[in-house]
Order: sequence, then C-alpha cells, then structure tokens
Amino acid sequence: MSDAADLSRRTFLRSIGLSVVAAAVAPERLFAADEQNLQDRPGQSEPDVEIGMTARPAEVSILPGRSTKVWMFSGELVKGPPGTVTAIPDSYLGPILRLRQGQKVRVRFHNKLPESCVIHQHGMHVPEKADGHPRHQIDSGQTSAYEFTVMNRAGTYWFHPHTDKRTAEQAYFGLAGLILVTDAEEQSLDLPRDEHDIPVIIQDRSFDAQNQLRYIAHRHDRWRGFLGDRILVNGKLDFVFPLATRVYRLRILNGSNSRIYKLTWSDGSPLTVIGTDGGLLESPEVRNYVMLAPGERVDLWADFRGRKLGDEITLRSSPFSGVMPMMGMGGGMGAALPHGGEYPIMVIRIAREEADQRVLPRRLSQIQRYRPQDATNAKTPRSIHLSMRGMAPQLNGRSFEMTRVTRDEIIPLNTLQLLEFVNRDYRARGMMMAHPMHIHGQQFQVLNREMAQGFERQYATVSQGFVDNGWKDTVLVMPGEKVTILKRFDHYTGLFLYHCHNLEHEDLDMMRNFLVQA
Ligand code: C2O
Ligand code: CU
Ligand code: CU
Repeated sequence: MSDAADLSRRTFLRSIGLSVVAAAVAPERLFAADEQNLQDRPGQSEPDVEIGMTARPAEVSILPGRSTKVWMFSGELVKGPPGTVTAIPDSYLGPILRLRQGQKVRVRFHNKLPESCVIHQHGMHVPEKADGHPRHQIDSGQTSAYEFTVMNRAGTYWFHPHTDKRTAEQAYFGLAGLILVTDAEEQSLDLPRDEHDIPVIIQDRSFDAQNQLRYIAHRHDRWRGFLGDRILVNGKLDFVFPLATRVYRLRILNGSNSRIYKLTWSDGSPLTVIGTDGGLLESPEVRNYVMLAPGERVDLWADFRGRKLGDEITLRSSPFSGVMPMMGMGGGMGAALPHGGEYPIMVIRIAREEADQRVLPRRLSQIQRYRPQDATNAKTPRSIHLSMRGMAPQLNGRSFEMTRVTRDEIIPLNTLQLLEFVNRDYRARGMMMAHPMHIHGQQFQVLNREMAQGFERQYATVSQGFVDNGWKDTVLVMPGEKVTILKRFDHYTGLFLYHCHNLEHEDLDMMRNFLVQA
C-alpha cells in the first residue's frame, strides 16, 4: 500500500469507527486483538485509579521577568488513593503519577492543544491501545482513554507525547511527566521514601531575549538533534536542592531531546547506583560516572551523612567524546554548552543536620537472567542497523511507516528474542553518532556490547558509565558499537514501536513497528 493509499484508508476506517490497526494488518488480527483486550475493555471492570490528564498551552515563570509560554500536562485524580497525582510546583512539567503494581488504571486524556497529540507511557508494559502509538493520536479538542493494569516492577517510568513528526517539539515545549511504580519487593526494603525520594528530571533548553523557548529553526538542522544552552532540573534553571545530612534516593531522568550526560559528583565521590530504567538492580553498583542518554533513568543512593552545614556538592556532566557526528560539528546550536563538555547540572546544599541510621541494602531485588540459548532465534539474532545517510536517520535502511511491518519485524507472542543494534555504517562514517535505542513494551536485558576497532579513544571516555545489569528500555549505542539484548514479548499482541530516543531522530522517522502476533 502506498503512503497515500494507506493514509486515505486510515482516514476512511476512522470515519466508520473501525480500528485502524486491525484492518491495516490482516483480518485474523481482529480476533487476536479482541481476545487480548477483553480484560481492558472499557466498562468491563472498574479501574482502581482514574486520572484526568489535560494537555494545554500555559505560561510559567522560568527566567526573571517575562513568563515563558509552554505546553503542559496537568493531572487530576478522579478515583484512587490520595497522593496518586502530585504536581511539581511552578514547573511546566506534568504531574508525578504514583502507581502500585497490580492496579487497574484509566487515564482520560483531554487534548486542549492546538494540534494532535497522544500520550505514551514510556517503559510501561501496556496493551497496544494504551501505548500511545501515533496512529492513536487525537485531534485538538478531543478526548481519549488509556486503560492498563500496572504490570511493571517498582521503578521510575515516564510519559510524553508520541505524536507523528511532532514528538520532539511537543516534549520540548514541556509535555512530559513521571510515573513512579512501587511493589511489595521495593516496599520490603528500607529505602528513602517520601520527601527523601526525589525526582530529578534533567532537560536542556534555549531561550530568546523575550524569555521564550527557542527550538530548532530549520528542519534540515534536526538530524544532529536539539542541544540547548541552559540546563533545567525539574523545570527550573540553576537548580539548588537544600538537603539534610542523610541518605536520599535520587531518581534521575534524562528528559532532554538529544543531550547525553556523563553524571559525576563535583567532589570526586563515586555514584552509588541502585536502579535503572526498569527498577532496582539486584545489588548496588558503585561507578565513577554514569552515562545517561535521552529517555534513560538511573536511581542513586545519595548519602550526605558526614557533610557539614553549608557544604555544596554539584551534580555535573563531565567531558566525553564520540557521540556527535564528525561532520557538521559546532553548527551554532548549544555552542555555549558543547555536547560532551563540562558543566553543572544542579547543586546540593547541605541545609540541615539530621540523623539517619539507614544502611544500604546489599540485595535490592531479584532479577531472573535471560539466557541467550533460550531465545527462539538464538542462532539468528534480529539485527537492527542504525544509519544516517543524507541526513536521514534510519533503521535497517527504512523509515517509519504507520502500520506496516516487514517480515523481520513480526514477532511471535510469548517468545524471548535476541536482538542486536549495530551502529557501524562506515560508508557514511562522517555521519555516525550515538543513538539511544528504545523499545516499547517489556523491559529488556543487555547481553553484551562489542566495539569495533578504531573507536577506542572516544569509547574510553564513556564505556565505564553504562549500567547494563538491570532492566532497560533504552540503551545507548555508540558509533562502532554492536549492543546485543534479550527481550520478551509477552501478554499483548499488536504493533509496538522501536526507535531512536533522540527525539529529533524519532521525528525524522528513525522508528519502526514490531508486530507481536499470537
Ligand atoms: Cu519515550 Cu517511544 O518513547
Ligand atoms: Cu517508550
Ligand atoms: Cu538517533
């Protein structure tokens, strides 16, 4: 089907109220989809949690003087435990949703933006209808609902738009929020809670002289990705946290469009990592630095005992190289804050003395390790080649198509799959850059990383910062690298996206579908 035919068919199907996906794939899909969605059919069973989520234009004060026009999500708890929805005060960022494993959730989305939108729950394992595929985007003024049962383990997840060709800009203007899931395993641990469990959402932005957000002006500049010249934490510039002499849990999300951070503490103390994208590690890992690419999360045990009142410790990004294309470096954007340069992210100021007897648990959670020999395709990994010819970032030489898949993108339901991301398009060597690759649905495990020759020097500046031992939904693939992962595709059939989480690349169609089939 040509794009135009596909589009008019979709429009037609929508006009008669038929599911676009089911029809665009194959007739038997209708049955599979219906069976699977029984449990999630609206009205079938009442949700435990119901949230009203509105996206709308707003104004917030970010810089001194004039307020800044943004787009933001605001959430309202309709039903469920108090504390399920909390706003980040004075921020363009959306609310924090606190969910518990097993809850049935309904999010009713009201689109009050002047354009189409759809919400994706990043890292959550939900049915395709709740996953926020661009084919489910709704027009300005419309309402839709996402229904799912929380199957994820405890961890830091997030939500953001996934609108066709508009994800980067919508996220940039403010549309993003957090989902914090808890479960019994996490609750049994003595980890810092409540006000000692702190979200840290890192984003870069640029402002014009009128305090308004400045995005990439020319579409042809997008292939490099947006780089801002100011760092915001939780929607605020020059962020300072007044904290006490105790232990905190810092849940760090890289919510930037394309900027990668190399996280370090300014006093040289190492970072104690307790979790990654899909929740707690089996045991804590101590690192001198942690790489955090767009979409990724890292959970830190941050121990400020023994510090003195008035002490300041800066979380910063330290120098690294090799992530940007050799061609077209500089280019104006982010020149004041080079990608891979050294700059502060936020400051912790010790403001109070408090006693805290907490001990870092040696065992945090149980993770069942997948074995490559158990993959259905153990001998024939599915390779996904990342390339960027002629400024078009692609996957296996293909761009996004709304509902179409190729044979190698069809995945049998309830299987373990061996996949590899290969960033070795030497024919366009000058365009090679790092791509944070993300797959919707269940979290995956990183099996190994293999580096080609000739990239050692740059790679040495980042390679000790990948925390690959836990559950992941996004993994940074450096130039010259092949990253092999193991991922299960359980419970839900349908179309699930995989793409580069450099959001400009996503909008340039560096995205494809997997079709999970029963
Ligand atoms: Cu956070 Cu499909 O993305
Ligand atoms: Cu996602
Ligand atoms: Cu990319």
